[in-house]
Amino acid sequence: MEVFSAPQEAAAWSANARWKGLRVGFVPTMGALHAGHASLVGAALRTCDQVVVSIFVNPLQFNDPEDLARYPRQPRTDHELLEQVGCHALFMPSEKALFQGLGKRTFDLGGLDTHWEGPDRPGHFQGVVNVVERLFLYTRPDVAYFGEKDRQQLAIIRHVAKELHWPERIVGCPTLREPDGLAMSSRNMRLDPDERRSATLLHQALLAVETAARTSPPASAREAGLTVLAGDPLVHVDHLGIADALTLEPLVQWPAHGSAVVLLAARVGAVRLIDNLSLRL
Ligand code: PAF
Repeated sequence: MEVFSAPQEAAAWSANARWKGLRVGFVPTMGALHAGHASLVGAALRTCDQVVVSIFVNPLQFNDPEDLARYPRQPRTDHELLEQVGCHALFMPSEKALFQGLGKRTFDLGGLDTHWEGPDRPGHFQGVVNVVERLFLYTRPDVAYFGEKDRQQLAIIRHVAKELHWPERIVGCPTLREPDGLAMSSRNMRLDPDERRSATLLHQALLAVETAARTSPPASAREAGLTVLAGDPLVHVDHLGIADALTLEPLVQWPAHGSAVVLLAARVGAVRLIDNLSLRL
């Protein structure tokens, strides 16, 4: 596997691959890689000839400096995992090199940041789109792969890519779960054993919403999820809501097109986790 820190090297690698007529797949990450990331790389390897992964803990998307400082970093283990899964290139830029003195841009997010993670983490999605735009500029992929666990992020990146006619195709990949249902996340490694047990409630809450949604309106289905989480003192809900799957607007009644999503963010101890589940009505 080739490893680059200079953006120009990543750009040259990608240009060379495309010059040879090879299809380039890209998986952007913030490192602390797990099986969920490996599945994104697997999806890229199945459809592309050359796959590049980036590892960059993006300060622009952290609104809490302590969260940024505590974000897990394990470059050596990440490197080994990527070698094992057959990734072709790893791009690990420095902040200075990646942004190269260019100012932060403000993107039109189409209102998709109005609810859920948007108000909870002001500036977060602008930070995400800024870094994704930079990473695309250098890696120039044909296809880029994002996890559906970050459902709102995926919707926003798709929106910006469409509006700005970015040439990259954006592919969403299903969330991988631990056997007890907990969505895989780099943040899970910060949970202590008690918190790890409590964290399983997040998926159970989503399943309770899904079950209630079959017979009840959105408000009652939401209550069913909140009830699952209410009894555990380690879990503090930031939001649990039901949204239209297309617009991510909160729902008061089920939409005619039948696609909704339940979105959850909760702090388990000091660790903030997010998860979501598609509802087919
Ligand atoms: O989903 C993530 O890990 C990050 O938000 C991303 C897309 C790598 C941008 O920093």
